[in-house]
Amino acid sequence: TLYSRIAGTGSYLPPRRVTNADLAAELATRGVETSDQWIIERTGIRSRHFAGPDVTSSDLAAPACRQAMDAAGCTAQDIDLIVFATSTPDMVFPSAACILQNKLGIAGCPAFDVQAVCSGFVYALTVADAMIRTGSARRALVVGAEVFSRILDFNDRTTCVLFGDGAGAVVLEASETPGILATDLHADGKHAGILCVPGNVSGNQVLGDAFLKMDGQAVFKLAVGVLEDAARATLAKAGRTDVDIDWLVPHQANIRIMQSTAKKLKLPLEKLIVTVDQHGNTSAASIPLALDTAVREGRIRKGDTLMLEGVGGGFTWGAVLVDF
Ligand code: ACO
Repeated sequence: TLYSRIAGTGSYLPPRRVTNADLAAELATRGVETSDQWIIERTGIRSRHFAGPDVTSSDLAAPACRQAMDAAGCTAQDIDLIVFATSTPDMVFPSAACILQNKLGIAGCPAFDVQAVCSGFVYALTVADAMIRTGSARRALVVGAEVFSRILDFNDRTTCVLFGDGAGAVVLEASETPGILATDLHADGKHAGILCVPGNVSGNQVLGDAFLKMDGQAVFKLAVGVLEDAARATLAKAGRTDVDIDWLVPHQANIRIMQSTAKKLKLPLEKLIVTVDQHGNTSAASIPLALDTAVREGRIRKGDTLMLEGVGGGFTWGAVLVDF
């Protein structure tokens, strides 16, 4: 049997770091009131990075991918599949994956975007795993990158304090031994309205609202339940009855959602990888960014069992169990 395994990880953050205090001062000039204390208490976020106005998701993805390829000991020429998770692509089309492919100096291999908002990375990893296991690809770049700062309404304090920009990537390669042990994806479109950017491009203008809208409490309630279900379903598919993992690497939206999930799974909080304090919610980038950060800090090591979990707009959710 053919399996896929993660051969290397990488990430990239735009240089401009904005603390809660910086953001509060900036918002105050618009008459929007917030505070470091409110943001930390409700979300766990202390700072986030924002890309410059001309920087695109593929710009952030390219250095993350180069770092992942270095870690995997391969070059762009060895890549035969690119799957790019983003909700903030460079253009309506072509896909950010095609633009990234050209920036990496390669041509010919299939390249496409996956749009599942904050679940984008677990969706992309699941798709790439399936393509490798069926022999359609041998070495894939799976990347999540976002410039959510573009779609934030800085007059809406209930959303604009939550998100940041960034990118994370992995090289996923064919292997005789399993790396990815099980995957579990879901969506339920009836919840589309609780987290969305409702605008669309029509006749050289945006029709409707191009800013992110969220019912925070509805999202919170749904997220905790589905994340527990997805984790348990993935373990069951891998034939495991216990929640026996080394690290939970959840989508980094809110420390309270992550801690509730860990509690429901009866996992000690030391097994929870947390980067939301430094990155904010970077949507599809958050899981690979957290993974790479923990790998580079020497916390996640080869041989560890990881549970990657995402939840986001759609509503979409899912999990991937990994022997790293
Ligand atoms: N600064 C100061 N006060 C604020 C701010 C802010 N940035 N935002 C809201 N408030 C105020 C509200 O106006 C409200 O005031 P009021 O009581 O006078 O009306 C008060 O704070 C409480 O607001 P709530 O919305 O009840 O606060 P809550 O405790 O629910 O926290 C939050 C809001 C953080 C958004 C929470 O609901 C949450 O985390 N939800 C999940 C959101 C999330 O994680 N989304 C992303 C997941 S999916 C994805 O990643 C795309």
